[in-house]
Amino acid sequence: MTVLVTGAAGFIGTATATALRAAGHDVVAVDAMVPQAHVRPATAPEGVHVLDVRAADDWVGLLRGVDVVCHLAAMVGAGVTVADLPLYAAHNDLGTASLLAAMARAGVPRFVQASSMVVYGEGRYRCPDHGHQTPAPRTVEDLDAGRFDNACPRCGRVLDWETVTEDALLDPRSSYAASKVAQEHYATAWARQAPGSAISLRYHNVYGPGMPRNTPYSGVAAIFRSAMEAGRAPVVFEDGGQVRDFVHVEDVARANVAAVEAVGGRDHGSHAAYNVCSGEPVTILDVARMVTAGSAASLSPVVSGEYRLGDVRHVVASPARAADELGFTARVGPMEGLARFARDPLRA
Ligand code: UD1
Repeated sequence: MTVLVTGAAGFIGTATATALRAAGHDVVAVDAMVPQAHVRPATAPEGVHVLDVRAADDWVGLLRGVDVVCHLAAMVGAGVTVADLPLYAAHNDLGTASLLAAMARAGVPRFVQASSMVVYGEGRYRCPDHGHQTPAPRTVEDLDAGRFDNACPRCGRVLDWETVTEDALLDPRSSYAASKVAQEHYATAWARQAPGSAISLRYHNVYGPGMPRNTPYSGVAAIFRSAMEAGRAPVVFEDGGQVRDFVHVEDVARANVAAVEAVGGRDHGSHAAYNVCSGEPVTILDVARMVTAGSAASLSPVVSGEYRLGDVRHVVASPARAADELGFTARVGPMEGLARFARDPLRA
């Protein structure tokens, strides 16, 4: 198949284009080289068309003959300040809408989109006495007092986390999260109207070689890795007990290939979402330990007790639907992948 990949020069896009080519597909690579994702925006890698999805109508010719669009281009991160809101709305909301409209014009009926676990907001929780509970955002008073865990709204007991499935309520809590929910909704609307078929992949915490160095928009793995490179110990917020699912970029690329190959078999008008995760949850303190253990520098993580107001406590995914319906199961577990990540090259 011919697959047009947006964000093809980025961290996930580079790995995905490589995996698609290895699976025998032709790749049309597009990237706008935005400064937030490319710290030193040098020239684009060879073969990458420097184009912006917001202006997809101007390059609709490139879409003709394409079988599937794999849309990875986005402003990432949690949104540093309110001033970033228009950036997310422009690149992610308007960009996706413009791309989908251009795809309809060019007759491309298949769409795979990079979504994120941020669409869920908090993870899923259960009180041993009161069953499933949806906690409100944590208060400044609780966080200041070091009460990081979510409490049962009925009895105040610490809630246990459970795995999040794709049918969970979407509860975006940042500008980035809002734009990722919007992208999924545009995909649904496009699939019905065009008509076409769409798949959204909700990536959990992605890491691996080629990850951008520390920027204000980086995830925690890049922050830890960059700190160590500068000879500083990784600083773990809260009590380090936050649980996430760290999924290796090679697995994310394999999930993209699986979705690209599956989306053609789906009914027109359909849109489905899948968690892309390793299925092996880890605490942030364990992530810091695994990254430091894999490095030559003898640095130990520091648990600082600081917090970021927008952070959620636990988000742990169920990998079941992606396994059942896409045949995707991660191959690189966090023990192996994070130890390797301690030495993997980062991107300038
Ligand atoms: C991250 C991304 C989110 C993405 C999601 C899935 C950011 C800011 N967030 O969400 O956009 O969709 O992964 O890939 O990119 N922490 C520390 N020390 C630090 C920085 C962070 O301990 O120096 C902690 C945070 O308090 C948090 C955890 O690490 O508990 C994860 O942080 P981070 O990777 O930024 O955000 P996620 O919420 O997991």
